[in-house]
Amino acid sequence: MEPFKIKSVESIPFTTRDERDIALRESGYNVFNLPARVITIDLLTDSGTSAMSDRQWAALMLGDESYAGSRNYFQFEETIRRITGFHHVIPTHQGRVAENLLFGTLVKPGDHVPNNIHFDTTRANVEQKGGVAVDCVFDHAYDPTLEAPYKGDLDVAKLDRVLADVGRERLPLVLLTITNNSGGGQPVSLENAHQVSAWCRRHGIPFFYDACRFAENAYFNRTRSHLESGIPEIARAFFELADGCTMSAKKDGLVNIGGFIALNDGDLATRIKNMLILIEGFPTYGGLAGRDLAAIAQGLEEVLDEQYLAHRIGQVRAFGEALQDRGVPILLPVGGHAVYLDAKRFLPHIPQEQFPAQALTCALYLEGGIRGVEIGGLMFGGAGTWPSLELVRLAVPRRVYTQSHLDYVAEVCGRIHQHRDRITGLRLTYEAPVLRHFTARLEPVA
Ligand code: F0G
Repeated sequence: MEPFKIKSVESIPFTTRDERDIALRESGYNVFNLPARVITIDLLTDSGTSAMSDRQWAALMLGDESYAGSRNYFQFEETIRRITGFHHVIPTHQGRVAENLLFGTLVKPGDHVPNNIHFDTTRANVEQKGGVAVDCVFDHAYDPTLEAPYKGDLDVAKLDRVLADVGRERLPLVLLTITNNSGGGQPVSLENAHQVSAWCRRHGIPFFYDACRFAENAYFNRTRSHLESGIPEIARAFFELADGCTMSAKKDGLVNIGGFIALNDGDLATRIKNMLILIEGFPTYGGLAGRDLAAIAQGLEEVLDEQYLAHRIGQVRAFGEALQDRGVPILLPVGGHAVYLDAKRFLPHIPQEQFPAQALTCALYLEGGIRGVEIGGLMFGGAGTWPSLELVRLAVPRRVYTQSHLDYVAEVCGRIHQHRDRITGLRLTYEAPVLRHFTARLEPVA
């Protein structure tokens, strides 16, 4: 059961099928263009959508809005140092700015940046610096039917290949995303982190985590590897292997906005802080209010609670099982923050050029007022290339929806699955040059 009770509630909107049909047309068959007031269950993202606790709301009232040296900064710094062990703590207003600052300082044109799988903003930030983002996850991560405990693990043999191809000078850092969002929210094992760390140390290459969901990743290690240590110790064991991390606190920080870079290299920290002042703000607030720093510090304590994580991971797993019970094909095993519908198996009659995962995303909205997100050809394809997976991610916001909300979603998915042959493909009518999925417009193929 939920390890919390509800103190404040928010009504959710209900719409008719006709209203949704109109809204979908007006959105250009892109759910990013839908206003939240027409969404009943919003599973677009687990990012920035958490419900804060009473203690976090109370912490907001203790915000110290001093421009420099806010009391909350020191508390934020102390918390992150204690959890990660990294010495320098640089606040940013969200994860992608942390990426921009880190890559802006380390990555030169032509450099290669390996990761298990880059998240879309991570890839885009590497590429924007002229770098090449290389995905090095094991090949089996791309098989949505294969059940393995750590499908987020990075294949070190692929790092050897990148090194042989481009040379040490062209490898400014290696990243590891915990959990691996673009590969299905799959965890990375501590053993794999050891291997990647050892490889980086051997070649003198900085090693950073993209740590958005580090607590969920630690929980998977605790349960799947039967580790004796508690969640904070496991999280710390991961961090101790690296030189630093970027973090979007909008996930495992349990807040609506915020992020940070934490690292050990003092020179690099100084260079990043100089850039931070230019684009975010003074190093003791980094684009956030003092009260936001307070809410993050409190959220980072709460996210490491084992009761909380057992419910969180259990709720997402139960959601996946409810879908499987109705014959809906999903990516296995169920990840930490989301269930991913496998659109290639769900809609085998729609060719990849007609965006099956986007078509399924639209069907979910039309039938049930549910918003998910396409992670497939619209997000990662283009110029004649197609990703191997066509997924619809149903991300579960933290502490927001109850089991009956998710049962409703499973029912709607089951109903759509029964009538799946009625769904048709889509074609693009507009696309932006980068990150096209956010603003693309589409229409049904006649
Ligand atoms: N890295 C990963 C693994 C992420 O999942 C995200 C965001 C970011 C970096 C960027 O963080 O949004 O704070 O700038 N993921 C969200 C999602 C948007 O829906 O998965 P941000």
